[in-house]
Amino acid sequence: MKRASGRTVVVTGGASGIGKAIAAAFRDNGDRVVVLDRTAGAGVTAVDVSDEDSVRSAFAVVRAEFGTVDVLVNSAGLLTESPAEDMDLAVWNETIAVDLTGVFLCSREVLKPMRAQRWGRIINISSQLGLKGGTGLGHYSAAKAGVIGFTKAVALEVAADNVLVNAIAPGPIETPLVDGISQAWKVAKRAELPLGRFGTPEEVAPAALLLADDPGGNLFVGQTLGPNSGDVMP
Ligand SMILES: NC(=O)c1ccc[n+]([C@@H]2O[C@H](COP(=O)([O-])OP(=O)(O)OC[C@H]3O[C@@H](n4cnc5c(N)ncnc54)[C@H](O)[C@@H]3O)[C@@H](O)[C@H]2O)c1
Repeated sequence: MKRASGRTVVVTGGASGIGKAIAAAFRDNGDRVVVLDRTAGAGVTAVDVSDEDSVRSAFAVVRAEFGTVDVLVNSAGLLTESPAEDMDLAVWNETIAVDLTGVFLCSREVLKPMRAQRWGRIINISSQLGLKGGTGLGHYSAAKAGVIGFTKAVALEVAADNVLVNAIAPGPIETPLVDGISQAWKVAKRAELPLGRFGTPEEVAPAALLLADDPGGNLFVGQTLGPNSGDVMP
């Protein structure tokens, strides 16, 4: 059966930035949106996506209240900067845990029920840095490249049951995540971009709606869309 609205949509990291804009876009589309984020608040259920128990209990609450998740958007993420030669293992581990393992843990919660209903969409927010790398961002680039590899592998596992898994690899987007990056990096980055500017979360959200659309997203399997101001042309 066609499903283009009225779906149960879970957005991790949906309290801020790209995830927040995606959550709003799905709400405007007539879907029921559940926001999972690190801190509980109005309309936000608390989860630490890097913690197996926390993810299990958050998704148990979602299933009890809303039934099967139709669309999962994995947008929770963090970014820090450190040259590889000076990077503490703890910094590396935290980034991999949140930006890569979090995508696995949340996806694992929804795969079987999606397959059982023979309809599902998982949209993983990677980054263009997973394609081209970035100075001082070895941990982040590795995690985001990992998300692209994970997306392709899982897409192969579940596509036959009409569960479609894809990624979005945005370029630099004006959100609190990039506030913390050095000014020098931002100036250099803008100069590199064919569009000459960073994007906004609202310019990324439509790509998620497309991947979740039925029939609009039906032929995307394991792909990585690149709303990135022209920085990478995969
Ligand atoms: N902003 C960019 O330029 C950009 C570019 C490419 C990819 N991305 C990716 O887009 C996604 C969203 O980033 P954003 O720019 O909107 O950043 P953001 O900081 O505005 O939002 C990230 C959200 O993730 C949540 N979060 C962080 N760690 C978490 C955890 N352990 N458990 C649950 N929630 C957690 C934060 O609380 C926050 O609400 C991230 O995966 C990021 O890596 C961002």
